[in-house]
Amino acid sequence: MSSPPVLVIESLEAGYEPSLPIVRNACLTVQPGEIFAILGPNGAGKSSLVKAVAGLVPVSSGRVLLNGRDITRTPAHRMVFEGLAFVPQTENVFINLSVAENLELAAAIVKAPRHDSLAPVYAMFPDLLRQRKLPAGQLSGGQRQMLAVARALIARPGLLILDEPSAGLSPLLVGQVFGKLREVRDAGITVLLVEQNVKAALGLADRAAVLVEGKERIVGSSAELLGDARIAALYLGRHAGTPAPGRTG
Ligand SMILES: Nc1ncnc2c1ncn2[C@@H]1O[C@H](COP(=O)(O)OP(=O)(O)OP(=O)(O)O)[C@@H](O)[C@H]1O
Ligand SMILES: [Mg+2]
Repeated sequence: MSSPPVLVIESLEAGYEPSLPIVRNACLTVQPGEIFAILGPNGAGKSSLVKAVAGLVPVSSGRVLLNGRDITRTPAHRMVFEGLAFVPQTENVFINLSVAENLELAAAIVKAPRHDSLAPVYAMFPDLLRQRKLPAGQLSGGQRQMLAVARALIARPGLLILDEPSAGLSPLLVGQVFGKLREVRDAGITVLLVEQNVKAALGLADRAAVLVEGKERIVGSSAELLGDARIAALYLGRHAGTPAPGRTG
């Protein structure tokens, strides 16, 4: 028997004002152990969708199921106890606290024993161990993003959601952060991320969806999306009809 989906987003409507839904009848399914990317133009509602899933944007209708459990409208601060960790795009670390204090605070929030929860995270992020006494505000952009991910992992979530983890990073650092997300996935944590960087995201993700005006329009494996003429024309700088590199026929 195959495992049930980690996340099911069922006909979700959400927004900041009741009369103006931003997420419009969105439906997505994320399978255990996959990296799933949400792509789409600026203002498509990508952040709003993941924030609605994470309890940060009001849901007007539809449901969010996490491992089969209905978590719709669970308050954001309770999500971590349901097994869902969310890394927002900005302000995702405390810049005036040290790296260690950032991680200890994350452990305190979930009432995890400090050593038991910190040791595996430091093992995964040896650079953070080296820099543990440094104020987070003095970390490079890439390391700060790593710290944000590390903070989220302290709670040992089953699903890690990230909003544009590559924003503002050089291609080299994007590669490092994405490499770490692969390690996270390989450690058994399902990853859902929003990305602007379509090419890099399709290199990382197993599957992806393109969101337009609050609704998924194209959903498929990364290979399918890389070969999709609409994606090529819109995001990859290739004209429709030009084959993707490495594809023939
Ligand atoms: N806090 C807010 N209050 C009211 N409207 C908002 C708020 N945040 C976003 N919106 C609106 O919701 C719509 C979708 O925004 P959202 O940030 O979800 O898009 P996005 O796909 O993440 O865009 P980007 O690629 O720029 O990050 C936009 O029209 C935006 O103006
Ligand atoms: Mg956004």
